[in-house]
Amino acid sequence: MWPTAELHVHIEGTLDADLIRELADRNGLPVPAGAGRGAPFRDLQDFLDVYYANLDVLRTRRDFQDLGARYLARAAAAGVRHAEIFVDPQSHTERGVPVEDVLLGLSAALADARAAHGMSGGLIVCFLRHLGPDAAMATLEAVLPHRSLLLAVGLDSSEVGFPPSLFRDVFERAAAEGLRRVAHAGEEGGPDYVWEALDILGAERIDHGNRALEDVELVAHLRETRTPLTVCPLSNLALRTAGPDLADHPLAVMLDEGLRASVHSDDPAYFGGYLDDNVRALVAAGTVTEDQVGVLAANAVASSFLPDAGKAALL
Ligand code: HPA
Ligand code: ZN
Repeated sequence: MWPTAELHVHIEGTLDADLIRELADRNGLPVPAGAGRGAPFRDLQDFLDVYYANLDVLRTRRDFQDLGARYLARAAAAGVRHAEIFVDPQSHTERGVPVEDVLLGLSAALADARAAHGMSGGLIVCFLRHLGPDAAMATLEAVLPHRSLLLAVGLDSSEVGFPPSLFRDVFERAAAEGLRRVAHAGEEGGPDYVWEALDILGAERIDHGNRALEDVELVAHLRETRTPLTVCPLSNLALRTAGPDLADHPLAVMLDEGLRASVHSDDPAYFGGYLDDNVRALVAAGTVTEDQVGVLAANAVASSFLPDAGKAALL
């Protein structure tokens, strides 16, 4: 595999059935009914219901460190040299897990991966759109004491009905704290959600962005501004936001249009594969050529929040 950067992975979406069982056992909890459930899902919400139920087994700092360590070892094997990892603190603090256990456990795994695999990385705190803007602001306040552990803020969970504009204030506050900004948009929501993420939230990357292709002006804007799109093909098939054939995935059009798209894994424990599996599936389906695999890896590195010297070392 080409050396690359993972920019779109939800750490809770790497929680596979084996680790769910192990953590349930360790914490004296029942194994959630959804353990082992995978693609296909009816839609994003059908998946999220399983995702939130399963992550209940994550209770201690050690649990988060183990989750992070397992993901990072698998990512290293996929050629990932730099990982910017999404975490959903609200899904844990709502259940009484202290936010510092979440952030310090994952940060310990990142520090260990630097030593063990030579990987760099960081954390992106995502706000859960379905809990609304006030809860997002409270979450930002709760994580700011750990500002040094954070790279960026993001926006995820149920998309339609929760447009980016709702989160203007919290993204403004995050930017004032020097945090970078990304947002999920155009996964199920339309091009207007992508415009809002860019214009109102100041998002520097769009996570997914598939539906941006429905708006020619937006496509031109994304091309001119070199705005990264972090695309997750197996996720799109699993959640029926693209397909059913991978050969028809919009990534081919994105590359043809000259957009800065790269391939990522989203929730690999649920969607049938890690970053390398996504790339292999795209090549097998004929969606991208072998040459474009190198372009996708270079785009991922260029789209990361690494300083220029760090990018150059990976290119
Ligand atoms: N989309 C939106 N929110 C999410 C996802 C996703 O694919 N996975 C985890 N949270
Ligand atoms: Zn995602």
